[in-house]
Amino acid sequence: MDKISKINQTIQSYYQKQGVSSDLSEAVLYSLEAGGKRLRPLLMLQIIEGFGLSLTDSHYQAAASVELIHTGSLVHDDLPAMDNDDYRRGQLTSHKRFDEATAILVGDGLFLDSFGLLAAADLPDKVKTALIYELSLAAGSRGMVGGQMLDLKGEKQQLALPELQKIHANKTGKLLAFPFVAAGLIAEREDEELTALAKAGALIGLAFQVRDDILDVTADFAEIGKTPQKDLAAAKATYPSLAGLEQSYQILEESLAEAETIFQNLMKEGDFAAGQVLQTIERLRLDA
Ligand code: IPE
Ligand code: IPE
Ligand code: MG
Ligand code: MG
Ligand code: MG
Repeated sequence: MDKISKINQTIQSYYQKQGVSSDLSEAVLYSLEAGGKRLRPLLMLQIIEGFGLSLTDSHYQAAASVELIHTGSLVHDDLPAMDNDDYRRGQLTSHKRFDEATAILVGDGLFLDSFGLLAAADLPDKVKTALIYELSLAAGSRGMVGGQMLDLKGEKQQLALPELQKIHANKTGKLLAFPFVAAGLIAEREDEELTALAKAGALIGLAFQVRDDILDVTADFAEIGKTPQKDLAAAKATYPSLAGLEQSYQILEESLAEAETIFQNLMKEGDFAAGQVLQTIERLRLDA
């Protein structure tokens, strides 16, 4: 079975075993099963394998945990009080398909279930505690949630690029960087390698939101599964609006290239097999 299918199976089986409210599970699975690229769990699994470990069910549980938080962040991001979006992952958003109260609870459920799924993984306690801590930092007030707050405040304001970078690094960058650090913790690597992984993760994380901002301008519904040109309509501070499209493409290129160099160095200096992760990073490139 390929990695994406096994990630999906891990998510499904976690919700099958639960079931306080079937209405809630139905709505949670509606958002989860709409797909998405599964980029965060995929990167984590590819880096774990890169360090020579054979993937276990526990690795899949750890990988799926970040996808739950990510999906919850999308459900809340789409709410009328936030970005007010009608489409996500090619289908109606949670609050459109169900109702607002349900969508709020779907996000709450996904955020908290994530930690249960991670805590249930059969990994050494020391590793697990570190993962739980890192995931909370990446997702909570010090990461995604804090970044979303800055993002709301930044709407319709004229921001300087460093301010926008701070918003992007927090609202998207930190949760995308989590899989890199998590894989290093799971493979029990030394601090030096963990630092390199964190750096690569931060670069990819920032690049990813720049990419998302570019796609808002250039892509159509079929490509992104959400309403195009939403940022434009909302006069949102984005990379294309601040730096222009051309420079945005350049920043994306440079960040991806810099992250690739980090993995090439890990490969040269250590025993890291970088093939898979480099391939995934390459897929993030956009033709200008
Ligand atoms: C979209 O993330 C929102 C951002 C954080 C930029 P993804 O592009 O990873 O969304 P899915 O998971 O593929 O739907
Ligand atoms: C989303 O940023 C960041 C999150 C924490 C979900 P966006 O608002 O740009 O994401 P999309 O474009 O709606 O997917
Ligand atoms: Mg948003
Ligand atoms: Mg949005
Ligand atoms: Mg966007």
